[in-house]
Amino acid sequence: MNDTNALPSFAAIVVAAGKGLRAGGALPKQFANWRGKPLVRHSVEALLDAGANPLVVVIPEDGEEFANAALQGLGSIGLIEGGETRQQSVRNGLEALTTSAPDRVLIHDAARPDLPSSVIARLLGALKDNAGAIPVLPVVDSIALAKGSHMAGKAEREPMRRVQTPQAFRYGAILDAHRNWTGAPDAGDDAQVLAAAGGKVVLVDGDERLKKITFAEDFVSEMPIFRIGSGFD
Ligand code: CTP
Ligand code: MG
Repeated sequence: MNDTNALPSFAAIVVAAGKGLRAGGALPKQFANWRGKPLVRHSVEALLDAGANPLVVVIPEDGEEFANAALQGLGSIGLIEGGETRQQSVRNGLEALTTSAPDRVLIHDAARPDLPSSVIARLLGALKDNAGAIPVLPVVDSIALAKGSHMAGKAEREPMRRVQTPQAFRYGAILDAHRNWTGAPDAGDDAQVLAAAGGKVVLVDGDERLKKITFAEDFVSEMPIFRIGSGFD
């Protein structure tokens, strides 16, 4: 059964304008192959399948050729040039949607390729009564505060959450919040931008599959482990 059948209409922005410095490699990670396809193509396909319209992908300056190759055959997708920081890239994506002025927008990292439709459905459902909705997971490890290489204290784990994307917003609210943001030029995420402007952000269950591809080893660590001849089948 497809649980996205009854989804309300929504626009989507996929930010893919980073340099992928921690992952290294010849290409920025969003254009490198992951499970047989360019990383960015995975979540763009998932969002299109869920009905995202319009959908814009924010890409690096001079990245058009790579983006066209990565997204070949996927139909109508707007390509927008990004900025120095993720926040600037999101802002450019939001500004590009002003003419279509959607009611709801999902903002997603290209670096999170495995996007289940169930998360999209939860986010859009939660947007009914809130200006923003974000997927979070609990923290299972204990938390230490570090000062250099030494432990400087501990923090309570219970109120902590790991925050993922996509993040869902009322379009007008997140656009205004980005336009009025006076904090650091690289805000951690869009929910912080909305919260700083007084918008209510509700937390919904995230999904471990939404893990962010950050390091070179993230491209290989999902390989199944076979122990040939070990006797364990
Ligand atoms: N991103 C972006 N514009 C930027 C920086 C980041 O669109 N100026 C996007 C990335 O392409 C990625 C997402 O934001 O999809 C999350 O960022 P991150 O995982 O940090 O990717 P990079 O910034 O590319 O990687 P790094 O920090 O290792 O250089
Ligand atoms: Mg980065």
